[in-house]
Amino acid sequence: MCRCSSPPAATARTVAADEVVARCLELARISDEPGRLTRLFGGAGMERANALVGRWMAEAGMAVRVDAARNLVGHLPGADAGAGTLLLGSHLDTVRDAGAFDGPLGVLCAIDCVARLRAEEVTLPFALDVLAFSDEEGVRFGSAYLGSRATAGTLDDALLDAADAGGVTVREALGAARDASRAGESLLGYCEVHIEQGPVLEARNLPVAVVSAIAGATRAEVRFAGRAGHAGTVPMALRRDAACALAELVLGVEAVGRSVDGLVATVGRIEALPGAPNVVPGAALATVDVRHADDAVRSGAVAAIVARAEAIAAERDVTVGWRELLDTAAVAMDPALGGRLARAVAAAGVEPLWLPSGAGHDAVALASLAPVAMLFVRCAGGVSHHPNESVAVADVAVALDVLDRFIRGLAG
Ligand code: HGY
Ligand code: MN
Ligand code: MN
Repeated sequence: MCRCSSPPAATARTVAADEVVARCLELARISDEPGRLTRLFGGAGMERANALVGRWMAEAGMAVRVDAARNLVGHLPGADAGAGTLLLGSHLDTVRDAGAFDGPLGVLCAIDCVARLRAEEVTLPFALDVLAFSDEEGVRFGSAYLGSRATAGTLDDALLDAADAGGVTVREALGAARDASRAGESLLGYCEVHIEQGPVLEARNLPVAVVSAIAGATRAEVRFAGRAGHAGTVPMALRRDAACALAELVLGVEAVGRSVDGLVATVGRIEALPGAPNVVPGAALATVDVRHADDAVRSGAVAAIVARAEAIAAERDVTVGWRELLDTAAVAMDPALGGRLARAVAAAGVEPLWLPSGAGHDAVALASLAPVAMLFVRCAGGVSHHPNESVAVADVAVALDVLDRFIRGLAG
């Protein structure tokens, strides 16, 4: 039976929140690149991050393992083996030149809640697993949610055949023993704490919000092929310059993104090849990221971008290729689990606001495995995917209080 005492006093919560923030900052010093935070799947940074976070999980009383998809998993058994498992967590990989809180905040908040339950000798009927996913951002292979899709049992050939800049595929990177699927297990749900990565909570002066849905996303690589040549001798009128074609498309992507309310369209990476200052680019490639809460709007926008690319190619006598890297439908959070989270927010003394997420999260992949819910935490200026990412200790204290109440509430 659960002996769930009421959550501890606010001061203890603030001390814990201070430690969670300090740990995020400590973790942020572990990077694959000097001078900035970048931790990519399978890199030395992720190994070191798993070792540090694994130590914190063990100190919180959890059994720690790394699964076949390099996800770090902390396990706290429940009193009743038949009561199933509640999944908590977020991701430890980052974008390039990242902030300290996108991902780690959710993992470290979950670990703190487990440590608190243990310290108070609270026995839950169900088990708690804290998942620290190995690749949510998808920077190395271009396609997101590698760790969480492995957990959901939804790795497909499109993802397994995705290759990194060196030509190593996901299939090769994972190796033959890559089954990390939890499909078929008795799972109560997945709850993720994450920074909002947007400006609404600051504007509403709220510390946290419950996520209502996550926007659908399409990520692709577009590649123009023209003719390379000597920059000093090929007359402008005779050029088939792939980089100029791409430049036109970049502005075309922006125009499509501006054309519909709530639509966003981004070219995040651009490359002109062969990449020498005195060679007319014979090839040029870029990534395109399109998102919207309504899948039909997103599909229409992607079609408009592809049509624009084909028109530019025809006008400039170059060829164009479009390779889809990711296509995830919009995902609604589970109403029942989200309702529990909203009640925990209210019990913590905060007006429960429901907020859609323009950013993608591992909850997208886990939604096929179990009911999912997310709690957003206010972040300064809504800044994210940037070293200036930051949170207030007081807001993290509220998030810890809410997550603690949510977990204890599930125990009845
Ligand atoms: O790109 C995203 O929305 C997330 O940060 N992976
Ligand atoms: Mn994230
Ligand atoms: Mn991110």
